[in-house]
Amino acid sequence: MIRYEGTLYRPPSEADSLILQVTIGCSYNECTFCAMYREKRFRVRKFEELRAEIAWAREHSSGVRKVFLADGDALMAKSSQLAAVLDELRAAFGPLARVSCYASPQSLQVRSVDEMRALRERGLSMYYLGIESGRNRVLERLKKGVDAAEMIRVAHKAHEAGVKLSTMILLGAGGRAESREHALESARVLNAIQPSFVSTLVMTPVEGTPLHESALRGEVDELTPLELARELREFLAALELEGSIFRSNHASNYLALNGTLPKDQATLLRALDAVLAHPSGAPFRPEWMRGL
Ligand SMILES: C[S@@+](CC[C@H](N)C(=O)[O-])C[C@H]1O[C@@H](n2cnc3c(N)ncnc32)[C@H](O)[C@@H]1O
Ligand code: SF4
Repeated sequence: MIRYEGTLYRPPSEADSLILQVTIGCSYNECTFCAMYREKRFRVRKFEELRAEIAWAREHSSGVRKVFLADGDALMAKSSQLAAVLDELRAAFGPLARVSCYASPQSLQVRSVDEMRALRERGLSMYYLGIESGRNRVLERLKKGVDAAEMIRVAHKAHEAGVKLSTMILLGAGGRAESREHALESARVLNAIQPSFVSTLVMTPVEGTPLHESALRGEVDELTPLELARELREFLAALELEGSIFRSNHASNYLALNGTLPKDQATLLRALDAVLAHPSGAPFRPEWMRGL
């Protein structure tokens, strides 16, 4: 049996993946907006438990093609443990189409390029990385723990190891006053990183977080769907990516867009221009359909 501990979070694109909780919680757990692992104390699961879960999945599921290693920063587990899990997965399911995990900037600081390369050779071929913003003042306010230059440096470590990156940007994180700078500087950081995938999420104050407390004190200006569309337009227009998939399909977004950049950039910008010109007819997702 697979016994998941607490609430499980995974990116939308891992909906049909086997999820294995290699770690519990997040080793950092400081970001002001993130409530996902606040209740959990970080720990690495015992290898024997993981081995038993992989064996159970082999018995009970047909055709596992993709595996996602949870929780919030599974890359923090020792690379010997991750290597053993990857070997077990390969023994159980043969070569997989993809094994991926969340990798915080902190876990990318800790793992060496050689460790990441060795894990990639065993199948761990993609990390999801929350860049959130390319603007230092915003990163500081979010308590992300690194500045933009450090974010670029650690992302380059992953690329040097041959690992793909799927990156997340938080729309609205600069508030109204810094919306434009947040958009432009986030695009600048992504241009320097050239990730394989770029997703946007809308920053949402969630109960139990410092961001929510600030929002209750009236210190957070949450952007309207129209202002978020304008910010997304600024961001998309400033991207100079050489071959990345863009998605705003996460449930926190008001507008669900997707395309390949740079091929679809002009089409995406035209779609946003149409929204900005005729907001009343825009296909904004209603509040009740939004989530995290
Ligand atoms: C589970 S976290 C894992 C990311 C990884 N630990 C990191 O920091 O790079 C996944 C992403 O969810 C998003 N997220 C978390 N809380 C959010 C919130 N309150 N509003 C919007 N997006 C949120 C952030 O983009 C975050 O990077
Ligand atoms: S965003 Fe990532 S690093 Fe920050 S607290 Fe959440 S899971 Fe941890």
